[in-house]
Amino acid sequence: MKKPIGIFDSGIGGLTVVKQLMHLLPNEQLIYFGDTARIPYGTKSKRLIERYAVEDAKFLLQYDIKALVVACNTASSLAMDVLLNSLDVPVIGVVIPGAEAAVKLTCNNKIGVIGTIATINSKSYTLQIQKRLSEAQVFGQACPLLVPLVEEGWLDDEVTILTLKKYLPEMIKEQVDTLILGCTHYPLLEKTIQKIMGDHVRLIDSGKETAKAVKQVLIENNLINRSDKPGPDKFFVSDIPMKFEEIGSRFLGKTLDNVERVDFERFLVKLEPGRMNNLRSNIEV
Ligand code: DGL
Repeated sequence: MKKPIGIFDSGIGGLTVVKQLMHLLPNEQLIYFGDTARIPYGTKSKRLIERYAVEDAKFLLQYDIKALVVACNTASSLAMDVLLNSLDVPVIGVVIPGAEAAVKLTCNNKIGVIGTIATINSKSYTLQIQKRLSEAQVFGQACPLLVPLVEEGWLDDEVTILTLKKYLPEMIKEQVDTLILGCTHYPLLEKTIQKIMGDHVRLIDSGKETAKAVKQVLIENNLINRSDKPGPDKFFVSDIPMKFEEIGSRFLGKTLDNVERVDFERFLVKLEPGRMNNLRSNIEV
C-alpha cells in the first residue's frame, strides 16, 4: 500500500527512529511531525502529554497515513492507551519493542531503563517487561540532563561523562546486564554509555527495535509498499529553533532538508473534533 507512515515526537529526537525506519523500510514514504514548539514532554503531566499526543496524531492523519509511529518514549509511556482507543490505523510505540528486546537479551533478569522523568515515573517499561518476564527486576533512572547535552552535541564531552557517572551508579551496583535507552536522544550517547557500563552490558536502542516492529505490523496487516517509494519523505515541525538543521542532521545521520514549519496554533484552532475520517469522534482536544 502506497500510503505514508506517520511518525511524531516531542521534537527532533524522533529522527533517531526515522533513521532506523529509512534503513529498514526504504520504500516507505515517511511523514514526520516534531512538536518543537512544545518540547519537552518529559517533564509534563500525563493529562497534557495525552492531549499533545492526540493533537500530533491528528496533524498526521491529514496525510492519510496507514500507520502511526509514536517515536517519543514519553508519549509512548503515557499516551498509548488514548491513541490506541482513538485511531483506526495501527499505532506502534517504542516501549513494547524495547521491553520485548530486553526480555530476550537479559540473562540475569536485571534490566535497567533510563529515560525522562515522565517515562520513568510512569513505570511503562517495568510493566511491559514484567508482563513478559514476571521474575525480572527493573531499575529505572530518570536522566533529565541528557536531552540538553545531546542537543548541545556533547556526546563524548567530559560534562556528559560526569553527568552519566552521576546517573548510572545504581545500574552498575544492581548489576543490570541489559540497559534500555528509553529516550529518543540516548542512542546518540550509546558509545559513551557503553564505556561507563562496560562491554558486558547490552544496550537496547528502542528506536531500532521499533523499526523492526513497524515492519512486522505492516507485513501482518498487508500494508507494506511493494512498489517504488511513492514520494519524498516530509518533515514538519511546530517551531524552528536555533541550530535546528545541525541538531536534526545529527539525529538523522544525514543532512536534514525539506523541513517545513507549520502554524500549529492555527491548525489546532481550526481542528474540529471528529473531522478526520479515521479518528473516532470521542476524543476531546
Ligand atoms: N522525545 C522525548 C522522549 O523520548 C525526549 C524529549 C522530551 O522530553 O520531550 O522521551
